[in-house]
Amino acid sequence: MSPKVSIILTSYNRPHLLKKAIESVLIQTMNKWELFIMDDASNKETTEIIRSYLNDKRIHYINSGVQDEDRHKTTRYASLINQAIPLTKGEYLSYLTDDTVYLPNRLQIMTSYLDKHPSIDIVYSSQKVQILNDQLKSVAERKRNASRILSKAANVVDHCSVMHTRRIAEKVYKKYYSYWDDSPECWHNGDAVFWMRLNQFQSFYPIPHVLDQTVKTPQCFQLLNRFLPNDVPNGTLVKGLTSEIYVIDQKKRRKITSEMLILLKYDSSKIVDVTDPLLFKYPLGPEIDQSALSNHNLFPNQRLIKCTKTNQLYFLENNQKRLIEPKAFKRFGFKLTEIITMNPELLALFENGLPIEVVFKPNCICPDNFLFTIGSTYYLSMDNQLHQIDINIIKRLKLTLNKVIQLSSNEVKHFKKGTPIKWGFRK
Ligand code: TYD
Ligand code: MG
Repeated sequence: MSPKVSIILTSYNRPHLLKKAIESVLIQTMNKWELFIMDDASNKETTEIIRSYLNDKRIHYINSGVQDEDRHKTTRYASLINQAIPLTKGEYLSYLTDDTVYLPNRLQIMTSYLDKHPSIDIVYSSQKVQILNDQLKSVAERKRNASRILSKAANVVDHCSVMHTRRIAEKVYKKYYSYWDDSPECWHNGDAVFWMRLNQFQSFYPIPHVLDQTVKTPQCFQLLNRFLPNDVPNGTLVKGLTSEIYVIDQKKRRKITSEMLILLKYDSSKIVDVTDPLLFKYPLGPEIDQSALSNHNLFPNQRLIKCTKTNQLYFLENNQKRLIEPKAFKRFGFKLTEIITMNPELLALFENGLPIEVVFKPNCICPDNFLFTIGSTYYLSMDNQLHQIDINIIKRLKLTLNKVIQLSSNEVKHFKKGTPIKWGFRK
């Protein structure tokens, strides 16, 4: 039996929800379907779930084998869909994500609508959205209604509420040389970008029933990605989808234990939840454990140090120690609670960097990850440049607004301005 509709299910590390998504296809009232499970190199728990369904000949499994450090390079789910489409056989194409279920009559209703209206190429239906909390308990519910013919479906219709003909997908390919646009700027709303392509040829026709149900967890890509820049500054504490915590140090990610967080005077309330593509963009550096306390090569940067002998304060940066002038301590908003004491023998092993002085002078080097204002505009220091930064990104990175340093017009002259730190998505 040749399939009428091909379903492309994209999956990444959600074993329990993925199981429900697959089951929702198996119980469809219309059975002329094929399912392509496109797994983006998920953990073992997820691949084990997938394997338990592979006896069904209608189910195909492809593991992308993507390397974690390459995850940020394309909009992964769009790449997976582009890989799947040429392998599919159905007259119609339909998308599913691993956090969504189809209602049992979805395929039947949508395919019979398309069969009955041969000139219509794209249908969409209403969707129920459940908002879940960290414990995956439902805290709210809303509905996306399909009621109008949409000549602009972008950001209105969800990924999993659409079915379209293969014929129109081929028209997209002919015009754009790809089906979905998988460039990395599409991560936030790749479905919307593809809907724009489809809308070049036709409107979306509504089927006013709820035919799929999705969940929004605090860990879903869109919520995590909100106001997150493409780069996070050195010294930031980050956490991806697992419970592991990392420090970004010299543009590497270094795992840190909860014991070391305390010993090295990190503030756990400043851990930033990030997407896995952003986290894995940073190569793995050496773990921060007890050995950091006795080995200057392993001691993390962006730390405030007091010499137990001289009581002098230093800021560690680029594996150098930078003496902090007493007045600069206040201006830079350093806190007494952040001071780590270090014996002079270990401290002596660090090379001397330029001191941090209260007023910026010609040829000074600006310490990384401090907030500045010039007039009413915010800037973040990175790589000895000032990068304009939006208030929403400042809050997202949990940077402290009460330690903003106001720069005088004289001081501004000593700085280079870097590229602004931006967040955005294709509109
Ligand atoms: P999801 O978190 O559901 O995004 P949204 O916030 O828009 O609901 O992710 C969408 C899809 O992306 C989902 O099917 C899993 C897939 N995905 C990958 O294929 N690779 C990845 O690295 C990530 C992070 C997601
Ligand atoms: Mg989702």
